[in-house]
Amino acid sequence: MDRRKLILNGVQLGAGLVMAPLLTIAAASAQPASSPAARSAATPVQRSRGRKARIFITGSSDGLGHAAARTLLGDGHEVVVHVRSQARLPAVRELVEQGAIATIGDLSDLEQTRDLARQVNAIGMMDAVIHNAGILSGSQVLMVNVVAPYLLTALIRRPRRLIYLSSSMHKGARVSLDRIDFSGRTGTAGYSESKLFITTLAAAVARLWPDVYSNAVDPGWVPTKMGGANAPDDLRLGHLTQEWLATSNDPRALTSGGYWYHQRLQEPHALVRNTKFQDRLLGELASVTGTRLV
Ligand SMILES: NC(=O)c1ccc[n+]([C@@H]2O[C@H](COP(=O)([O-])OP(=O)(O)OC[C@H]3O[C@@H](n4cnc5c(N)ncnc54)[C@H](OP(=O)(O)O)[C@@H]3O)[C@@H](O)[C@H]2O)c1
Repeated sequence: MDRRKLILNGVQLGAGLVMAPLLTIAAASAQPASSPAARSAATPVQRSRGRKARIFITGSSDGLGHAAARTLLGDGHEVVVHVRSQARLPAVRELVEQGAIATIGDLSDLEQTRDLARQVNAIGMMDAVIHNAGILSGSQVLMVNVVAPYLLTALIRRPRRLIYLSSSMHKGARVSLDRIDFSGRTGTAGYSESKLFITTLAAAVARLWPDVYSNAVDPGWVPTKMGGANAPDDLRLGHLTQEWLATSNDPRALTSGGYWYHQRLQEPHALVRNTKFQDRLLGELASVTGTRLV
């Protein structure tokens, strides 16, 4: 069967029959956003490397998520990539052609985020999830940077490893949970606050789920769409730690509750390890999503 036929016939993945619109990416608008994942047929070369780990990376259309996906695929891992919409599928075409599975969902929309979790679960168990997608500003900053990763954490079948993208800017957050509107209807918090919350979520998950390695990563200020062309830090180091935490058997990578920068543990904002603050945050997120982390 030629590649196109194989793709159009769909590929059986885990529980779900996943249709793969890979060669029809340009015409993909015919497909609803809720349609399940897309997948290319792995080439014989990729198959012969054998499965190592299966990793889901949010926001893999660009920047650090795209770079991590490319590296992990190159290392022979199974990678599930994610784009916000059908229109962004071309951004992962090259990754899909190398064997990645594509999923779709706008993380500023609760229903699309729920649907994204369904797509991921239909593919099968993930070994690791890298919660990478993020935005720098706008009223959706809490929704995309905090609420969506929380909801995906709650809804995706629990993997062995969870990695959340933080930022050193979280240390400058000014926080009172009393005035925070996680729904995004009003812009009550900025980027720094969102990164304090996601770092706290990573620590809370590490405490509540002892069977999971949950860590936060500051990738450094690196030259991506978000970081800007003049960002001073090393782009390769900006995604290395996530890849290492997702796949390595180095004993340091098999730990939980850390806040990492370039494979070194750092001390996060004091509130991150405050269990009352963690519980309060989890309560707010459960309330805005209607989904508890259990
Ligand atoms: N770059 C830095 O210097 C730096 C520093 C500290 C922390 N970080 C963190 O590292 C992570 C990756 O950043 P980056 O520099 O790679 O950023 P980027 O180049 O702007 O890429 C962000 C990714 O997130 C996706 N995304 C944004 N909003 C989305 C939404 N509503 N639904 C679905 N996907 C969405 C983007 O999709 P589109 O391509 O469609 O926009 C893109 O794939 C972020 O969490 C960021 O906060 C970055």
